[in-house]
Amino acid sequence: MPSLLIRNIGTLVQAETAPRPFVAGAAMQELPVLENAYLLAEAGRIAAFGPMAQCPERADEVVDAAGRMLFPSWCDSHTHLVFAASREAEFVDRIKGLSYEEIARRGGGILNSARRLRETPQEELLQSAYGRLLEIQGFGSGAVEIKSGYGLDVESELKMLRVIRKLQSLTDMPVRATFLGAHALPPEYRDNREGYIRLIIDEMLPRIAAEGLADYIDAFCEKGFFTVGETARLIEAGARYGLKAKVHTNQFNCLGGIQACVERGALSVDHLEVVNDEEVEVLKRGNTMPTLLPSAPFFIGGHYQPARRLIDAGLPVALATDYNPGTTPSGRMQFVLSLACIKCRMTPEEAINAATLNGARAMELENTHGSVAIGKAASFFLTRPIPSVAYLPYAFGADLVEQAFINGKRVADKR
Ligand code: NIG
Ligand code: FE
Repeated sequence: MPSLLIRNIGTLVQAETAPRPFVAGAAMQELPVLENAYLLAEAGRIAAFGPMAQCPERADEVVDAAGRMLFPSWCDSHTHLVFAASREAEFVDRIKGLSYEEIARRGGGILNSARRLRETPQEELLQSAYGRLLEIQGFGSGAVEIKSGYGLDVESELKMLRVIRKLQSLTDMPVRATFLGAHALPPEYRDNREGYIRLIIDEMLPRIAAEGLADYIDAFCEKGFFTVGETARLIEAGARYGLKAKVHTNQFNCLGGIQACVERGALSVDHLEVVNDEEVEVLKRGNTMPTLLPSAPFFIGGHYQPARRLIDAGLPVALATDYNPGTTPSGRMQFVLSLACIKCRMTPEEAINAATLNGARAMELENTHGSVAIGKAASFFLTRPIPSVAYLPYAFGADLVEQAFINGKRVADKR
């Protein structure tokens, strides 16, 4: 594989000489940068970086960054980017006054997506999801997690997970697959909750495990969806197949989902629009990554995540897009950073740490992604000319990614 040399980098962001597995609390404010730098990639990995004074003479391909900034690729640890159809009719219903939960109770929402997904052939789902994958690569993402959860029957959940595995074979960026059978109760089980839980545990999980289709298990722990007790059972069932948990919880209510997840060693708890003091303490005692998805309250209304309380309590937080047709029809990490700063009062440095290193940690990719470090994947992007790191979240809505690279290969070029 040819070598790639990036010369004259104005600011090399998140450049680590002693790689950290994640950053928490006050350390989230520290963003290691190197001014006037070079980066050398060999065989898809970062082989060297340092001051321009030590820049190697040649490489197979040389890019002059001309003072632009280089960031490690975003690590988007929570998406639902396999789906059959958009849901702008619900968007209009919300404008007219319906809430997300009311729309769900009327059979819209996740069940609307499930109806459409069930009737859509696998190949068609693959094509549309692959388009979204290329789209987010162009936005600077270099690792992604994708959930099932719009199938809600055995064959349709398998279909979604096979699409996610197929996506991995089409790209060099890591694609983590999460089984979210417990996303909503499908209509055929409306009067038989236990039957659906049993279907997930006794039929879906064994087949998913036999085909090696998932890395993680998830559930939507929320009023009107799945209870804390059901979530706990599902986490334990997943664990029997080696699947760690990444769980939707605390989007609208504090029910005890965080406690159930942390006690069971979940990898992450995601959403966290509402968090009480006891839950902050629980998170402090565990190893679970709080993952904030501020574009969901931006799009459907509601509380923004209390990032300050979490970080000031010494916790790490990760940021992710939640790209999905219902609550976030956008896979743009840069906009998530803007919301994190503007609405959750995170500093630009905290937001960048949350979207890189801590996002990688929330997918167990911290040894290979999330920062510029020797031996890590050569996955990064060059910005358009910008005056400072803070300009990136400041210029909300602008696309500041000019060239994106994954494993040392250019995947987007907007010059
Ligand atoms: O993370 N809240 C649960 N799941 C998704 C939304 C799913 C949908 O509305 O299609 C989320 O916001
Ligand atoms: Fe989600």
